[in-house]
Amino acid sequence: MNALGYWVTRFRGDDGLVVWQRSACALRTSRVEPLAIGRYSLPVIAGWEAGRVVLGMTEQVVKNSAPSESAATPLLRIEAVKKRFGGFVAVDGLSLDIKAGEFFALLGPSGCGKTTLLRMLAGFETPDSGRILLGGEDIAPVLPHQRPVNMMFQNYALFPHLSVANNIAFGLKRAGLPRREVAQRVAEMVALAKLEGMEKRRPNQLSGGQQQRVALARALARRPKLLLLDEPMAALDKKLRESTQLELIALQKRLGTTFVIVTHDQDEAMTVADRIGVMRAGKLEQVAAPRRLYETPTSRWVAEFVGDVNILDGNVTSREHGRLTIATDAGAVVAAAPSQPVEATSVALAIRPEKIKLSRRGPAADPGHADAMNRLDGEIVEVGYVGGLTTYKVRLDAGTMLQARMANTTRLDSDVYQTGQHVVAWFAPDDCVVLDR
Ligand SMILES: Nc1ncnc2c1ncn2[C@@H]1O[C@H](COP(=O)(O)OP(=O)(O)O)[C@@H](O)[C@H]1O
Ligand SMILES: [Mg+2]
Repeated sequence: MNALGYWVTRFRGDDGLVVWQRSACALRTSRVEPLAIGRYSLPVIAGWEAGRVVLGMTEQVVKNSAPSESAATPLLRIEAVKKRFGGFVAVDGLSLDIKAGEFFALLGPSGCGKTTLLRMLAGFETPDSGRILLGGEDIAPVLPHQRPVNMMFQNYALFPHLSVANNIAFGLKRAGLPRREVAQRVAEMVALAKLEGMEKRRPNQLSGGQQQRVALARALARRPKLLLLDEPMAALDKKLRESTQLELIALQKRLGTTFVIVTHDQDEAMTVADRIGVMRAGKLEQVAAPRRLYETPTSRWVAEFVGDVNILDGNVTSREHGRLTIATDAGAVVAAAPSQPVEATSVALAIRPEKIKLSRRGPAADPGHADAMNRLDGEIVEVGYVGGLTTYKVRLDAGTMLQARMANTTRLDSDVYQTGQHVVAWFAPDDCVVLDR
């Protein structure tokens, strides 16, 4: 029993008055033997005696701070976790901190180790090396059903022979909750997941969306601290997926539970998550908020994996006034110097399609005007109309292909530019991200 932490928040050495609390519970005051302010694991609190807490051995004083600051301790800490299957390394020394109340997305291509990582957090797989800490405690010895962690599986894994209510009640009964409490909790979850009137149905009498909500309700029923969701919306059609994403965000904010969602869908990760960890071959390539990930990728791989991007390879020919001039096959391009200096001469320039503007003759040639600083001539070779947007492929005079994207802000009978038309593609130095090649 060492899963829970207790905080001693105030201590008066003279009379042994200690104010302590268990995570977010109410403050309690007790008189005890002198203790330092800090965090104590459960065995320290040996018992209650007539309103005073009896403290055992004071092992493991983690740090000297009040519980309000304990929020700085991540709820989940993954330390250099590695998992092999035979000779294949599925998770390769991955480290990550996740804060309490965070909605975190693990995003990566199929087979990069996302599910394996989740299964280790849930306790269904054991890491070969590394540690997983929950609230500062190593959870290695804690059995899956004893962890304050629950997992919603990719295929929902509902019990086909059980009703909706009994599916939701399953974990509660197994945990030995009294019947009345089980019934109450099931009713709560049915309301939360908008499953009223469906309590008696079996999973095969439900739509895909309803099954998904049963799986979610079942996973939340035991009020886990950490909910793991493996591709929870993969089986839903696009419209339903979008509304479900919004419902999931609202639910997570309401409950305040920490969510870790696994997805290979970058739009989904961007929509739901506070932060995204991009995974590649068992490792994290970049961890950042959605906007930062998209606008400031730190590697060419992330730039290409998250969203569409134009990449121009080139060599830095000058660095001045916070700008780099880069000689590319398409001509010289001026880019804003990245905040993390790129030492290499040989670089890759990443420019998102919507940052590239097209016009027939280019913007008024004002050399002092940054927006017009990069102007590349080319010809439209492909036009892709997708309703709200049109994507244009431009073959630059130098032969390089560029993709530009324009919002269709007015109703027009045809796209603004036609195949074969000459255009100037232009963009500002700030629109370019300079990356190691
Ligand atoms: N139990 C297992 N035995 C052998 N290989 C496995 C096992 N589980 C996963 N793998 C392999 O580990 C890699 C990562 O799998 P997984 O974590 O399921 O990826 P993801 O969820 O990102 O698609 C894959 O190559 C997969 O084939
Ligand atoms: Mg998976």
